[in-house]
Order: sequence, then structure tokens, then C-alpha cells
Amino acid sequence: MNKKIFSLIALSFMFSATLANANEVQTLPAPNIKGGQPLMETLTNRKTIRDFSDQAIDNQTLSEILWSAWGISHGEKRTIPTSQNKQNLKVYITKADGTWLYNAQDNRLEQVSTQDLRALMAKQDFVKTAPITLIFTGTDAKNSPMHAGSAYQNVGLYCASQGLGNVVRGYLDREAVEKALKLPSEEKVIITQTIGWPKK
Ligand SMILES: Cc1cc2nc3c(=O)[nH]c(=O)nc-3n(C[C@H](O)[C@H](O)[C@H](O)COP(=O)(O)O)c2cc1C
Repeated sequence: MNKKIFSLIALSFMFSATLANANEVQTLPAPNIKGGQPLMETLTNRKTIRDFSDQAIDNQTLSEILWSAWGISHGEKRTIPTSQNKQNLKVYITKADGTWLYNAQDNRLEQVSTQDLRALMAKQDFVKTAPITLIFTGTDAKNSPMHAGSAYQNVGLYCASQGLGNVVRGYLDREAVEKALKLPSEEKVIITQTIGWPKK
């Protein structure tokens, strides 16, 4: 076969494979919403951890992290309050297999990019290798930081209850992340949160 035609066919296969990957969905197991440590002990144990082991985060734990952040807990409402119940927060997760948007209604991750953005956000080296980083975005300049703060606090408490480590991270190039995620101009990165099992 003519070399040029062969390269064109190969390129179009590669392109369609990339597009197909970007539409992938990962269904999560139902979160276990019973149990955990008593509240006062959990509050006492909440703390920032920046030293993570290589251990992966299993999908059950991942589902519970995301549910703590932004899950649906009463009627159609969330584990965090939002101003006028606008529910205008988004929670993305970036990990080795790309970057995903959490869809709480269907309890699944929807791939928005095949790119792992951990290195892009790694002004602190541990972010490159910690298994997951959450990215909180919003469209409401006044209230989005409060919504993101509620969500990261819920996650921080879940982590404390489970013995997971986490660190809230504002030290990043937000514009670079917005560009990589191709966010519309009104949707801004508020804050991120890196999570993993602490080094023993
Ligand atoms: C809005 C916000 C942004 C933060 N940004 C960073 C960050 O970029 N890098 C980091 O290592 N820690 C960051 N932290 C974690 C704080 O340094 C940490 O919460 C503080 O030292 C108190 O420690 P503690 O969480 O163990 O109580 C941030 C915390 C908050 C609330």
C-alpha cells in the first residue's frame, strides 16, 4: 500500500481512538453511607497530610470520597449546602487514566480528557504521584469558593474517618488547568485537593 495512504489511515485510527477514550464512563460502586468514626473523633483526626504511599485508591473508597464531596443525600439535594440551592459546583478528578467529571445522579465518572493533569498541577512534587487530585470548579464568583470549601471539608472529614491522607491545594496554575479542561470562560477552577493513603 502507498506509504502516504497507510499513514493517513493509521492517523485517523489514532484520532478516533482518542475521541472514543474521551467519552468513556466509569460506573462507581454505591457508596457505603453507614458507619465511619464518631463525629468528634473525626474532627479531632482531620489534618493535612502531604506524604503519600504508592497504594491505589479502590473504587469503593473513590465513590465514598466523591459522595462526601458532592453526592446526593436528601431528596435531590447534596451533602453540602449551596446558595439558593443552585448546585452550581463541579467536581473533577484527575488520575493516571485521565480526567473525569463526577456525575452524582448516575454515580459515575465521565471522562473529559484522556490527559492526566497531576503533573500540570504539580508545583508540589507529591501531587504527581498521589493517586488522585480533585478539582473543584464553579461559575459563581461570590459563592463558589464557599461551596468548594464545604466540599473539601467533607472530603477531609471522610479521609480522617478512613485513615486516608489529604491536602487542600491552592498552589497551582488555575488558568493552565482551565485551558487543559477546555472550560467555558465562566467556569473557574476554585481549589484542588490531593488524596492518597499516608506513608506508614
Ligand atoms: C484554601 C487552602 C489552600 C491551601 N493550599 C495549600 C497548598 O497549595 N499546598 C499545601 O501544601 N497546603 C495547602 N493548604 C493546606 C494548609 O497549609 C493546611 O490546612 C494548614 O497548614 C493547616 O494544617 P491542617 O490542615 O493540618 O490543620 C491549603 C489549605 C487551604 C484551606
